[in-house]
Amino acid sequence: MSDLQQRIEKHIEILSQFTATPGKGTTRLTYSEEDLQARNYIKEIMKEYGLSVREDGLGNIFGKLEGTLKDAPSVLVGSHFDSVPNGGSYDGPAGVVAGLEVAGLFSKNNLKPKYPLEVIALIEEEGARFGGGLMGSRGIVGLLTEEEFFNITDKDGKTTVEAMTGIGLDPSLQKKRDPKTLKAFLELHIEQGPILEEKGIPIGMVEAIVGLTQLEVTVEGRAGHAGTTPMDRRADALVAAAQMIAKFPEFACKEGDGTVITTGRLNVWPNGANVIPDKVVFTVDIRSGKEERVLEAVEKVMEWVKSYNGHGIKTTVQQQLYMPPKVMNQQIVSLLKQKCSELNLSYCSINSGAGHDAMVLSDVTDVAMLFIPSKDGLSHCPEEWSSSKDIANAVEILYEAAKTLTEAE
Ligand code: GLV
Ligand code: MN
Ligand code: MN
Repeated sequence: MSDLQQRIEKHIEILSQFTATPGKGTTRLTYSEEDLQARNYIKEIMKEYGLSVREDGLGNIFGKLEGTLKDAPSVLVGSHFDSVPNGGSYDGPAGVVAGLEVAGLFSKNNLKPKYPLEVIALIEEEGARFGGGLMGSRGIVGLLTEEEFFNITDKDGKTTVEAMTGIGLDPSLQKKRDPKTLKAFLELHIEQGPILEEKGIPIGMVEAIVGLTQLEVTVEGRAGHAGTTPMDRRADALVAAAQMIAKFPEFACKEGDGTVITTGRLNVWPNGANVIPDKVVFTVDIRSGKEERVLEAVEKVMEWVKSYNGHGIKTTVQQQLYMPPKVMNQQIVSLLKQKCSELNLSYCSINSGAGHDAMVLSDVTDVAMLFIPSKDGLSHCPEEWSSSKDIANAVEILYEAAKTLTEAE
């Protein structure tokens, strides 16, 4: 195994230990104790590789290798380091580790770039703590304003500011970044699907990322005794929510063009076995490569949910995230393809069904993404796995591309 591969395995292994659910996958919520542990490790490696480290007002981490040009924009490489509940060790960390090792190669080869190289590790891409997702990148581009950020709470009512300061971060620091400071962003990510593994191809060249939206539906009914309230006198928030949700697969199939609709989070109040639920909050995640399909599906879901109003039931819908489909920057994609050919690595074009920080940053800078195979196509689960060899290949490609983009010698 190469040195590079060994370092990659070590980083992934160490980061995977920073989980709130040991033995049951990675659960690393933003601004948690495990976030702090992972953050400290990432910062330590950044410093070891000669990068100057800073955190912004969202807790995103930046490790910078200065360039020789004055006030020149940076080439960013990285990904996110939060996780879904009981997720895997690779979704996010593979890209952060790749960024670290690109910087490691710059350091080892004593390269002097003209444009700065920045390794980035972003918070809350998954939205597992504060909802919506892509929070780190949305803050950077200004899609999430300071005020919006301050008003967000987690499910226990803790504010972003309380949670941030709880691990020693400073929410008063600047969040939005001047686009003039960005030259390009490169992100490695695991595919999270079966295509590359089935084809036996080590690299997926991402062409586009699906459009996606997340809604949060609140259904309010009336609580009551489960044994004494006749069935015809109830306003059961959970029964209403279940009927709504059961219709979503049909909406998605009718929409076509690969439209998918998922309810992945549902909370019930008061959540007692013998109490009729008076409140349910659930999410609706809608995605498609075609923006019209996403917009139409949102409209259908909204109408359907609204049709349940009355007879003691009240519904409200909040749109927590909307991202149209995004295409990658063709010049950088061509550059990455050229580097693959020079390194004798085969690749194929692929579209991303998952959302990524790259889609947000593509609003303000030139962006491209590489995918590597996911074992059995699995992701967002403890079984998620990718080989260190594939990550190492991607690091070589990103290193070569970063050298060209930073004009390093
Ligand atoms: C991130 O994993 C997403 O696609 O929601
Ligand atoms: Mn994910
Ligand atoms: Mn991810």
